[in-house]
Amino acid sequence: MNLHSRILAAGALAALAGLSALPAQAQSPAYPTRAITMIVPFAAGGPTDVISRIVTAHMAQTLGQSIIIENVVGAGGTTATTRAARATNDGYTLITGHMGTHAASVPLYPKLAYHPEKDFEPIALLAGTPILILAKKDFAPKDLKEFATYVKANVDKVNAAHAGVGSVSHVSCELLNSVLEIKPTGVPFNGTGPAMNALVGGQVDYMCDQIVNAVPQIKGGTIKAYAIATPERNPSLPDVPTTKEAGLPAFQAQAWNAIFAPKGTPPEVIAKLNAAAVKALDDENVRKRLLDLGSVIPPTAERTPASLAALVKSEIAKWTPVVKPAGN
Ligand code: MLT
Repeated sequence: MNLHSRILAAGALAALAGLSALPAQAQSPAYPTRAITMIVPFAAGGPTDVISRIVTAHMAQTLGQSIIIENVVGAGGTTATTRAARATNDGYTLITGHMGTHAASVPLYPKLAYHPEKDFEPIALLAGTPILILAKKDFAPKDLKEFATYVKANVDKVNAAHAGVGSVSHVSCELLNSVLEIKPTGVPFNGTGPAMNALVGGQVDYMCDQIVNAVPQIKGGTIKAYAIATPERNPSLPDVPTTKEAGLPAFQAQAWNAIFAPKGTPPEVIAKLNAAAVKALDDENVRKRLLDLGSVIPPTAERTPASLAALVKSEIAKWTPVVKPAGN
């Protein structure tokens, strides 16, 4: 090796040494450089899955990489959420969590393997999802008042489907049952996608579910809707009365779905993901699909990570006195 070559080689080595001293993020090419996994903590076809697929399809275009949905079921969404909390915090594994996984599960599971606030970085709220009281098509009660009377009188015979302890459907019906002062049998599924199939098939009696899962079935006449548990009727279901109109004003419930990343995910990655989610929520086609399913699209001010962090905190505080540890 001649002198010139040695100087060049030494220079290259020095440059390499200098490069390796740079922080990891400065070395890595612009995020994302490969496909992102979005964990959905319930079965395919349910409300969390549907919302995730609508929004992430648009986010993938913005980010220039695929977003692959992975449905990881079990334990009311907490199995998947535990996995997401432990995933590498590099922005390539995310989760669509919701009012159950990231709020109500905290008081329900005293040994929960994650804490929504300590183990996650909030990215963006995607959609509010009003809760409806639904029943199989041939369930005897004609309206909500009759429903209340009927389930009280037949509490040993009726059952309520849900997506596992801590899921939105479970917690919402726990609230309804406490308003009605009943304790019917619960029938758990891996998500309200399969629970809805059972309701349509008449294998279960009733369910408290997010509107996104219910609109197509109500419009198709395959199930009954007694009421929507929000102060106002929903434009996607103008004929369904509110619980207040139907005689049960004490039952009010609206869930939400949002994207989270494992704690410690770099701030610039969070910012990119948030911007992509915000852009998706502004897209006309995405909005139409979400609105047609009855979702409530958050206003711009409620799409920031800080706003989602505040929502998680307030929802944990709200559900803690309402739900008791599972089994009690
Ligand atoms: C689902 O996607 O199946 C739901 O969000 C389940 C639930 O929490 O009720």
